[in-house]
Amino acid sequence: MKLAVFNTHSYDKAFFAEANGQFGLSISYFEPRLTSETAKLAENYPAVCAFVNDVIDREVIEQLAKGGTRLIALRSAGYNNVDMSAAKQYGITVANVPAYSPESVAEYTVGLMLTLNRKIHRAYNRVKENNFALNGFIGFDFHNCTVGVIGTGRIGTAVVKILNGMGCKILAHDIIENNTCIDLGVNYVGLSKLLAESDVITLHCPMTEDNYHIIDEQAINIMKERVMLINTSRGGLIDTEAVIEGLKSGKISNLGLDVYENEKPMLYDDHSNELLLDDVLGRLLTFPNVLITGHQGFFTKDALSSIANTTLFNAKCFYEGKASGNEL
Ligand code: NAI
Repeated sequence: MKLAVFNTHSYDKAFFAEANGQFGLSISYFEPRLTSETAKLAENYPAVCAFVNDVIDREVIEQLAKGGTRLIALRSAGYNNVDMSAAKQYGITVANVPAYSPESVAEYTVGLMLTLNRKIHRAYNRVKENNFALNGFIGFDFHNCTVGVIGTGRIGTAVVKILNGMGCKILAHDIIENNTCIDLGVNYVGLSKLLAESDVITLHCPMTEDNYHIIDEQAINIMKERVMLINTSRGGLIDTEAVIEGLKSGKISNLGLDVYENEKPMLYDDHSNELLLDDVLGRLLTFPNVLITGHQGFFTKDALSSIANTTLFNAKCFYEGKASGNEL
């Protein structure tokens, strides 16, 4: 029962090793990301484990299939980086970890909102320099403000529960209305109404062909003046250049991003000794009212433990010829 784990960091190894106590798989850990250059490492591994920044396009899938891979066990919920039609064509099953800890991402999302609103990231640096001035730090009460939640699945609903506790008025937009949210008093509206009436907008829908750049110039034009925009879902939901224009004009007062549309080359590695060649990211980093983190919303010990357990369960079921229920 072999499993090749790509894109391994020390923390992945620690949580997988602990979870494997009950599954007994033979795991090989590879540090490189899965790409067309590294797919060869998976030769003779029927099961391969990959993450959000691995490249699982048609070329890689073809190579994996040639090498005998029959399962791609994603250790993530999102699977927009997988060419699903190629996987189907080559007879490769793709499984994910649909729900590991929606609260981990939801709590992080609200953390970004509160940090940006009260300028905690800037206050931290000021006080370190013996500067106790408050100018530029005025925020607003979340109590009674209107938050628009786009996508009310597992994470969106967990966000709604926290915001509800904070006394926010919540508007939501989803293709399927969620009864838990309705019971909490959430008002489902069309996208344009949500954009026009929200003081804070937060994205929790997956990225699909239909909603690529759902936040573009046109959407920003509809928004309230001084809106706060938060994205902890997928970078491609936002047209970053349009958002930069929104920041420059002052229309967007605060931007919190845990994901960025061109994040892949950067993610999870230290590039501090290299030049930043991404001019769009470079411009974003100049704004004091922009807070960017490197796709870490999921990064709690509870989530990592749950991810490792479900991923190994998916691989074990595959080897036993059973369905895990997490096949896509
Ligand atoms: P989910 O599948 O439970 O919920 C997604 C919701 O979005 C569903 O209710 C669906 O109907 C809705 N939706 C789909 N298309 C839509 C559209 N065009 N407009 C409005 N709503 C739409 O997914 P979950 O678990 O809540 O995760 C949401 C996203 O969060 C994932 O797809 C992933 O991209 C992201 N994520 C980010 C993480 C991070 O570390 N920052 C970690 C885990 C997930």
